[in-house]
Amino acid sequence: MEERHPTSTALEYLNPSYWDERFSKEEKYEWFKDYSHFRHLIQPHLTPHSSVLELGCGNSQMSEDLYKDGTTNITCIDLSSIAVDNMQKRLLSRGLRDIKVLQADMLELPFDDECFDLVIEKGTMDVLFVDSGDPWNPKPETISKVMATLKGVHRVLKANGTFISITFGQPHFRRPIFNAADFSWSVEYTSFGETFHYFVYVLKKGQRSSYEDIQLKRFEAPRINLFHEELESEDFAFRINVDELNN
Ligand SMILES: C[S@@+](CC[C@H](N)C(=O)[O-])C[C@H]1O[C@@H](n2cnc3c(N)ncnc32)[C@H](O)[C@@H]1O
Repeated sequence: MEERHPTSTALEYLNPSYWDERFSKEEKYEWFKDYSHFRHLIQPHLTPHSSVLELGCGNSQMSEDLYKDGTTNITCIDLSSIAVDNMQKRLLSRGLRDIKVLQADMLELPFDDECFDLVIEKGTMDVLFVDSGDPWNPKPETISKVMATLKGVHRVLKANGTFISITFGQPHFRRPIFNAADFSWSVEYTSFGETFHYFVYVLKKGQRSSYEDIQLKRFEAPRINLFHEELESEDFAFRINVDELNN
């Protein structure tokens, strides 16, 4: 049986050595839910020719599932060199040497502009939200890390590329961030899950509509308060630990 980490505190998720230590012991773990639960939501955005980037692959099976589902041009990154080594070995042992796995920071994506059709992440950006400080006055560092990640994703996406974010972050809190004026993408979402609801945000570059700009203006005034509410009402550690115990 896989080792569980029910006593992890959310703040540890921001510490790269936490992940290295964890991945040196843990062979396989799927955060939130596995691919079978949301396959129907992401397959419409893929073709066999899509070039895909996965942010923060950890030891998830998602890249392998995508590959077996017909999308073979996949690059995975993770900040943890141990996660990367383990994933490379695992994929090699399964004959999936085409999937590229690189150590990289999602805040500084080491890729050319406009080189991916689809960027996907599951639970990786959520890590950035665990150290927001005073919920009534989130640290500028939190906002700046999230924006650095999103700007990088937007940059590496092709002109009509798609970013898919799978998270428990609720729409009234995530949409204002995704809809920041820096981005040309449209923002749509749906959810899956039973006990817990997970959200799948689909952001299509170059398809922002003036309607979204109008919505954003309506959102901008209470933006900080909404964001604080999220940090208070959604306890990342609780959600993650409960999920781990239920898995
Ligand atoms: C909550 S886990 C999610 C793992 C995987 N996506 C899944 O669904 O099972 C977060 C992952 O993000 C990685 N990570 C954390 N910060 C990162 C960063 N700045 N850049 C790239 N990966 C990062 C961690 O090493 C870890 O593998």
